[in-house]
Amino acid sequence: MFTPATYIQRRDHLKKLVGSGIIFFPGNNESPRNYPAEVYKFRQDSSFLYYFGLDFPGIAGLIDIDNNEDILFGNDRDLDDVVWMGPDDSMKDKAKAVGVEKTYEFGQLKNHLNKAKSSGRVIHFLPQYKHDLLFLFEDLFGIHHSKVKENVSELLIKSVIKQRSIKSDDEIAQMEQALDISLKMNLLAMRFTNPGVKEKEVYGAVEGMALAMGNGTSFPIIFSVHGETLHNPFHENLMQDGQIALLDSGAESELHYASDITRVFPVNGKFSEIQRDIYNVVLNSQLGAINMIRPGVSFRDVHLTSAKIIADGLKTVGIMKGNVDDAVANGAHALFFPHGLGHMIGLDVHDMEGLGENFVGYDDDIKRSDQFGLAYLRFGKKMMPGYTLTIEPGIYFIPQLIKNWREKNKHSDYINYDKLDGFLSFGGIRIEDDILVTEDSFKILGQPIPKTVEEVEETCNS
Ligand code: GLY
Ligand code: MN
Repeated sequence: MFTPATYIQRRDHLKKLVGSGIIFFPGNNESPRNYPAEVYKFRQDSSFLYYFGLDFPGIAGLIDIDNNEDILFGNDRDLDDVVWMGPDDSMKDKAKAVGVEKTYEFGQLKNHLNKAKSSGRVIHFLPQYKHDLLFLFEDLFGIHHSKVKENVSELLIKSVIKQRSIKSDDEIAQMEQALDISLKMNLLAMRFTNPGVKEKEVYGAVEGMALAMGNGTSFPIIFSVHGETLHNPFHENLMQDGQIALLDSGAESELHYASDITRVFPVNGKFSEIQRDIYNVVLNSQLGAINMIRPGVSFRDVHLTSAKIIADGLKTVGIMKGNVDDAVANGAHALFFPHGLGHMIGLDVHDMEGLGENFVGYDDDIKRSDQFGLAYLRFGKKMMPGYTLTIEPGIYFIPQLIKNWREKNKHSDYINYDKLDGFLSFGGIRIEDDILVTEDSFKILGQPIPKTVEEVEETCNS
């Protein structure tokens, strides 16, 4: 946990941003897996963690702005709980640890909210993504669970995003802790990957590393020789000589801050010539993008520059042709780079995505495009010091997408379709790091993780 003063300061800042009324933050509950008592690994809600820090189920927080009061609702463990789960501190003591003096039994929450409602006070809350909480809202506020989303507070959403977007030194230290784990996860995968090893053997070992060193993974691990499937959930392939494997993975630190790193490595320890060439196009694009990071620059411009480096590199390889600026303006590169350059990262791997991607990544100046590829850019607006973002360009050869575009002769001024026959089993390459926007430029967070062709090959063979 951070110090009590940290949580008090965060809540006080939020009070100023929202101005008046009551802010309601429900914590998450246990989620049943295959029957009620068999549950998924518990993960607290990130905004609850940010303002109230407590990392267990069955609690809720209220910030009463008008009376300058912070309250936590939750129950002490009873004797049955102690028998099954062991002893624990009282709610009072847990609340004190995050600077909250006032606590009530969870059952008191409804009375409290009813009183506030009947005296005409505004109760602000964020969008909800857990079904049990939607039903709790129905019970507490008399709003049908399907209508909760229509009653969220845009003022609260924007205030929370404003606050959580700027990371403090303590938060950066947590992200660096997650990145220390990422380094170990990536070294393990590069060394363990070999012809004849199953993807899921590496997947399981990497997940074990995240669990052993921190709080598990920050999202389901993507590990596949079919890196062209962007979020490939399948890990059953037997890896073969000549293939490349893509690992997109992240860990959660002690306080649940995320890392998100992608590396690609040759299964047999040595890239072929064409694999190396495509790899270096992606690497140039990633480095070119990172070098543009600074306050005041729009991330959409960084995305478009990285796309141009990709189009230019693919032109050199003979896959693309024509004027690079025009190709990217028309979206032709998206056949190979169909996703966004990156996203905010913090307590969530896609930070605050549950509050609304457009609130996080766009504003009145920069609106989301609907062009294929660019439309998937989660974050486009101008950067500010303290923002933390991923930079993750890629090149993918997706046979079904190539077939679809080819049949339509789409963007044939810019794409040499005949050249693509030899790439249908190539797979995909993405290279991802996590960066901090500083006062005048950027910092790549964490210790270096092997990234150049030489570093990656050396690690694979070490
Ligand atoms: N690392 C997965 C993603 O950024 O979507
Ligand atoms: Mn990512």
